[in-house]
This record gives sequence, C-alpha cells and structure tokens, in this order.
Amino acid sequence: MTKYVIHGGRPLFGEIEISGAKNAAVAIIPAALLVDGVCRIENIPQISDVTLLLKILQELGADVRTVDRTTVDIDCTHIRNAKVPDGMARQIRASYYLIGALLGRFGSSQVPPPGGCHLGARPIDQHIKGFVAMGADVDVSGGYINARAQDGRLQGGQVYLDIVSVGATMNIMLAAVLAKGMTIIENAAKEPHIVDLANFLNSMGADIMGAGTDVIKIRGVDRLNGGAYSIIPDQIEAGTYMAAVAAAGGEVRIKNVIPKHLDCITAKLVEMGVEVEESDDSVLVRRDPNRRLNRTNVKTLPYPGFPTDMQPQIAVALCMAEGTSVITEGVWDSRYRYVDEIRRMGAKVQVDGKIAVIEGVDKLTGAPVQACDLRAGAAMVIAGLAAQGTTEVDCVHYIERGYEDIVRKLSGVGADIRVVVTPDEEKTQASVG
Ligand code: EPU
Repeated sequence: MTKYVIHGGRPLFGEIEISGAKNAAVAIIPAALLVDGVCRIENIPQISDVTLLLKILQELGADVRTVDRTTVDIDCTHIRNAKVPDGMARQIRASYYLIGALLGRFGSSQVPPPGGCHLGARPIDQHIKGFVAMGADVDVSGGYINARAQDGRLQGGQVYLDIVSVGATMNIMLAAVLAKGMTIIENAAKEPHIVDLANFLNSMGADIMGAGTDVIKIRGVDRLNGGAYSIIPDQIEAGTYMAAVAAAGGEVRIKNVIPKHLDCITAKLVEMGVEVEESDDSVLVRRDPNRRLNRTNVKTLPYPGFPTDMQPQIAVALCMAEGTSVITEGVWDSRYRYVDEIRRMGAKVQVDGKIAVIEGVDKLTGAPVQACDLRAGAAMVIAGLAAQGTTEVDCVHYIERGYEDIVRKLSGVGADIRVVVTPDEEKTQASVG
C-alpha cells in the first residue's frame, strides 16, 4: 500500500517541468505497430499506462529499446501476431488503440475489452462504427473484440461520429492510414493529442489532413517508414499544477507547455482571480494566498471547451472560493465520485446528476481520503496542498497512471508531500526528495 502524506497550507513557489502528454503517448505507442522500421519516440512520460503499453508491444514481438529516460526506439517490423494477450490490456483504457493499429496493419485484430478509470458507461460503439465503415466485421466473443477486414485489407470509408469521441477519432485514424483509398471522419474530436497523433503518422509517411478540425481526411498509403517524433507536453498535467497554485496560492512557472493548449484552463483561472502570464513555452501562475478565489461556473466540453480531465481539480479549488459555483460535467456520466472524499475535508458540495453545486468555504482541513481515479486522485492531492493539517491520499496507483513524478515535482515547489509505503500495516517511510 502506497499513500501520499501531505502537510498542507503552504503556498507553492518555484518551477515545474511538464512531461509528455499521456493521452498522446498512449495512442502514438500503438501507432508504432503501423510502421515498417524503427520509430524513435521522444518526450515519453514515465507513467504506468505507458509502461504497460510498451510491455504489451513487447509481448506481441516488438523490439522496444530505452534510449534514455524519455526516449524509446520501437521496431514492430517483425510482429506477425494480431492477438493481444489477455491481462495487461484489460488494465488500461488506451489498449483500444491496439484494435485500430493491428487491424490497419494485419487486416485483423483480437484485443481484450479495455479497462481504465470508472467514469460511467464507456462504450466503444463509435470506434466500431468506423471500422465497419471501412469494411471490417467486428464481434465480441471469447472475451475478445475480434475485428477482421472482409477483403484482408481495410477500404477507405466515410464515418459521421454520433458523439464527439477522442478515442474513436484516433482509433479510426489508426485503422485508416494503411487502408485502400480515402477515409473521412466527420464530427471528429479536435483535442491537441489528435493533432499530435496525425503529426506523428504524417512524419512517418501517412497522408492525414484536417486534424484539429471536425473533418479529418485520411488518404491510405501502402507503408509507413521509421523516423523520430517528439510528443507534445501534457495539457492536463500542466493544468493540474496551475489548479494547485490556484488552490494553495504562491507563484510557479510551469515550463515546457504549449500555452495555446492551456487557453481553456487559463481563461477559467483568470475569472477566478488567478494571474497567468504566458511566455513562449511556459506559463507563470500567481495567486496571493491571502486573497480568496472568485466563484465561477464551469461546463466541461470537448476541446476547445474546458476539459473534463480538469473538472475535479478545478472543483477542488472552487471549494475554497468566495460564493457558490456550479459545475456541469458535459462528457462523462459519473465523474463526481471524489465528492464524498472532498466532503471529508469540509467542502460543501451537492451533486445532482451531471451538476455539482459548490458552496465555497474559508478553508479545507486535512483528512484521510482516497484517489477514486486518476484525475480525482490529482484533485485530492491539490486539496491536501491547500488544506490546513495533514491529508493522507490512498490508492495513489491511480495517480501514477498519468502523472510522472508528481511527488518530486510538488516537493520541488515547496510542498510538504511524502510517499509512505505501508507493508502489512507497518509503515515504512520512503524518501521522496
Ligand atoms: N462515447 C460513446 N461511444 C464511443 C466512444 C465514446 O458513447 O464509442 C462517449 C463516452 O461515453 C463519453 C464521450 O463519448 O461520454 C467522450 O468519450 P471519448 O471517446 O472522447 O473518451 P475516451 O477516448 O474514452 C479520452 C481520454 C480520457 C478523456 C476523454 C475525453 C484516453 C486514453 N482517455 O477517453 O482521459 O476524459 O478522452 O477527453 O485518451 C484521463 O486522462 O483521465 C481520461 C479519462
């Protein structure tokens, strides 16, 4: 059992360096399956979802070499197997990208249904709709999602997504790059990681146009060649640290970011009274710890709207704002499981379906809480940093799925946060710098 112990109530000062984007990396790593030759992928975040995906590729027969802490070489040239072993694939959501990538490369794929955080129903019908539009038969049997191109190779097709889906947009792109002819995705998602996946594939020889708009056109090519590509910085990791400064106060320069990707988060924080100064590849975030935040309303939406993956973190900051704020979750059915935890710290939050009403309080007080999922876990850390007293955050493996070195990064800006490992009830303290 590993938990984080946080002595809160200290403002944060200093600099934090942002890692590569999780939700880009988890699509780009499977995309290496489509490439003939060695892909060098740089700026890979060191998080457990990435480690698992690299292991799955190795299980399939890929040659994966670590070049340095953030760079891997992946060579999938000799893979002959389109069946992903059960086990690891079920632990992560992004294993669904293996369906599109293997189907594109081999004309068939067998992949266990994906896992991931519990955010309500997480269907993949729109992914399947896209594969079917390209001439695949898809069924679920024997604990596998089985997909097979009717003629051994997918054909370009046209798909209108009924709902804007990040996963479906990227999965259909993966399947389409080696298909015969043109595929058109309408009502596509526009997140920065969609553009990043398209840039990765194009740099290896694919022909994808329109990524970042709601119509993406993919002209199939016969093969992709190896090359090198650097993943974009993580928008949500950056936003999480911005929210931490908003909640705890202080002044932190958040480095290695694309400020444009943060606009949707910056705009809300500014409304809340946080100062944000943008530079070329960093943002300086400042909040006077002696002044309370302003209330605001937040509605989560697909990009460029306010990201659902920032909803718990901004909600925690709003728990300490002056006045009442309303949050509307516009993407997931069930993303308020953390509310019970934050109430233990003195927050006043009422949830009705997709709406949370937050009545700001003067202060939160430390308590033992759980990370219910990745972003909820990050929100608990933020609450602990801002609260008076000691907070213990349990189930931190969720947080480590998506945040590289969160304890070290926060310690570096003056947070009092430690990792505590508890084997058989006996507490052993590990050093965290
Ligand atoms: N949806 C469908 N059918 C589908 C696909 C999606 O109805 O076939 C619905 C979902 O139920 C949801 C909405 O469409 O209500 C949007 O889902 P989307 O497909 O965009 O989500 P995802 O691809 O499964 C990714 C991220 C999530 C992030 C969402 C939205 C990965 C691995 N996951 O999920 O990230 O919340 O996009 O931006 O990229 C996280 O990082 O903490 C996380 C949960």
